[in-house]
Amino acid sequence: MKGKFISIEGIDGCGKSTHVKLLARWLRSHGRKVVITDEPTNGATGRIIKRVLIGKLKLPIAAEALLFAADRAQHISEVIKPALKTGKVVLNERYVSSSLAYQSARGLSINWISSINKHALMPDLGILIDVPVDIAFARIKSSRRLDEFERNLRLQERVRRNYLRIARRERLKIVDNTRSCDEVQAEIRKLVSAVL
Ligand code: TYD
Repeated sequence: MKGKFISIEGIDGCGKSTHVKLLARWLRSHGRKVVITDEPTNGATGRIIKRVLIGKLKLPIAAEALLFAADRAQHISEVIKPALKTGKVVLNERYVSSSLAYQSARGLSINWISSINKHALMPDLGILIDVPVDIAFARIKSSRRLDEFERNLRLQERVRRNYLRIARRERLKIVDNTRSCDEVQAEIRKLVSAVL
C-alpha cells in the first residue's frame, strides 16, 4: 500500500486531537494528502458503541470489545485501506491498543482482546501520548461533559498503566505530554518523518 498508517493513542484528555490537528497541518504544508479519522467511528457499529459510552445501553464487556473490533473491521475496509491505496497519510485517533488498554482495564484478558483484533492492519507507526490522569482529567472537565469512561478516574489510571505496559509489545512510541505543546509536537513530527 502506498500511503502511511499512523495511529495515535492515549487516555481520555491526553491531547490526541490537538496534536493530530497540528500534525495534519504540518503534513499538508509539506504537500502530503492527509485523512484524519477516529474510533469508535460514526458507522453502524460505532453508533451502538456510542450509546454504550453515554450509558444509554448496557452490554457485557465481552460484547463491548467485540463491537469495537467489528467497528474497526468496517473502518479498515471502508476508510483506512482505500485512503492508503491512494497514497494518503491516515491519522487514526485510537486503534487496537485502545481496545487492549481499555477493555482489559474493564476486566477482559489482553490475549482474548488481541485475538479478536487479529484481522487488524498493522500501523506503520503507533504513538502513545502519555500524561498523568489528573492532568488529563482537569483538561476535559474544563471543556465539556464527561462520558461514562471519562468520569471513572480509577478506570483511567488502569488504562494508563495498561498502555505503558503494552507499549513495547505493540511497538508504541511513548511521547511525554507534560511538556510544552511545541516540544511535544516537534517530537511527534520527528517520529512521523522517520516513517514517511
Ligand atoms: P474517543 O473518541 O477518544 O472519545 P471522545 O470522542 O469523547 O473524545 O473514545 C471514546 C471512548 O471509547 C474512550 O473513552 C475510549 C473508548 N474506547 C475503548 O474503550 N476501546 C476502543 O477500542 C476504542 C477505539 C475506544
